[in-house]
Amino acid sequence: TYLSGCESDWHLSNCCNGKHVGSRHRVVFVACFLLLNIIFLIRSRKKLPAEMISRNNFSVWNILKKCIGMELSKIAMPVVFNEPLSFLQRISEYMEHTHLIHKACSLSDSIDRMQVVAAFAVSAVASQWERTGKPFNPLLGETYELTREDEGYRLISEQVSHHPPISAFHAESLKKEFEFHGSIYPKLKFWGKSVEAEPKGTMTLELLKHKEAYTWTNPMCCVHNIILGKLWIEQYGTVEIVNHRTGDKCVLNFKPCGMFGKELHKVEGHIQDKSKKKRRVIYGKWTECMYSVDPKVYEAYKKSEKKSGGESKNCEAEEADEMPEVQETVTVIPGSALLWRITPRPAHSAQMYNFTSFAITLNELEPSMERLLSPTDCRLRPDIRAMENGDIDLASSEKERLEEKQRAARRERSKDEEEWSTRWFQMGTNPHTGAEDWLYTGGYFDRNFTDCPNIY
Ligand SMILES: *[C@@H]1O[C@H](CO)[C@@H](O)[C@H](O)[C@H]1NC(C)=O
Ligand SMILES: *[C@@H]1O[C@H](CO)[C@@H](O)[C@H](O)[C@H]1NC(C)=O
Ligand SMILES: *[C@@H]1O[C@H](CO)[C@@H](O)[C@H](O)[C@H]1NC(C)=O
Repeated sequence: TYLSGCESDWHLSNCCNGKHVGSRHRVVFVACFLLLNIIFLIRSRKKLPAEMISRNNFSVWNILKKCIGMELSKIAMPVVFNEPLSFLQRISEYMEHTHLIHKACSLSDSIDRMQVVAAFAVSAVASQWERTGKPFNPLLGETYELTREDEGYRLISEQVSHHPPISAFHAESLKKEFEFHGSIYPKLKFWGKSVEAEPKGTMTLELLKHKEAYTWTNPMCCVHNIILGKLWIEQYGTVEIVNHRTGDKCVLNFKPCGMFGKELHKVEGHIQDKSKKKRRVIYGKWTECMYSVDPKVYEAYKKSEKKSGGESKNCEAEEADEMPEVQETVTVIPGSALLWRITPRPAHSAQMYNFTSFAITLNELEPSMERLLSPTDCRLRPDIRAMENGDIDLASSEKERLEEKQRAARRERSKDEEEWSTRWFQMGTNPHTGAEDWLYTGGYFDRNFTDCPNIY
């Protein structure tokens, strides 16, 4: 979960999430909005309308040196450092690997399910890889809908708070097999050379048939070299996934890179049952793949590796600025089962903000959709649309206009002592964690948008 959206959050975006599709004539998925009885076709595009504009002529340092001592949230970064997606669209990338949730639903053993849920939690942050563009901060009341009949789910998200920025999302399977929801409140820290995003907010995955709920929090995300040098992204920290019905737990350690880069992008952990007995070891890289292996096989392998001198130095405490050159791929321990593998990025991804094939489709607007979407949907945001079309000047002026409109609306409300009311989510108690959470109140897909605010 990442990061997100405050004005400040520059680059943070990167912080947290991922993915895509794609074969050539990849066609068409039919989204059938049963409630309206309207069927329309969406062809998933494979390219953005325009290539990205080079950032070479823009120096982050030129901007930041004028801002020393300022609160990060007050610094306006030029649009050229953005990517043409709203943060709400960025978090929808968690859904890229929805097939893993379907798989978890189909498994009868709870430890097997936990393995696949762990793979899903890792895969959900994989789209962050090499994505150093900052998504647009959602405006208060902005929404994003993603209906994927082909993958059997629909998602709705809403920006429920501006200061602090909080994005809430709710996805559900069309066959009532699962619900996946959460709210993301990224806290950013500027460390001079890097920006660190702490993804506050809990992810909840409910497998309805199994009457199970899993919860976890995403890892920390750090974007290095924001001033000089090559930008790169690291994710680190411990992610603990809890199955609230069985008491099974999966503890995943996203390793910091370390001085020699040996640990770069590595994720390791284990699954334990209620009695704390280790049942599986999970390992891999969030940028590549994840495997699962029996703990005894794992221990035996580590012992034999040590004997043969292949022991690696523990350098976790060291700090790295430069992205290490050597990036060994995952060494597969014999007897392991593959849980997940990343889908390769499309060939032209580098000219498309390093988007995955999935990300490329997120802002696509078919004429038939326009009549159905809420007027607050990100796809209707003129600044993002202009950037996607390669018109940076229009994107900048539209972004400024929208932000000013948002400020004016806030002033009006405070004059009338009016409170902003969220439309599709309400603050409540997450029944599984007992903590405060933004919960979907339902009704979006009835598509009565008569009282939605005019934010664009
Ligand atoms: C960057 O600056 C150079 C020299 O000032 C100029 O020739 C080039 O067109 C600029 N590139 C962009 C993308 O603005
Ligand atoms: C895309 O990835 C390449 C290779 O790591 C990197 O050099 C480039 O800065 C990235 N572009 C963006 C927009 O993040
Ligand atoms: C749509 O919502 C508005 C107010 O929220 C209500 O007055 C109206 O009756 C609704 N329309 C339909 C068709 O349900």
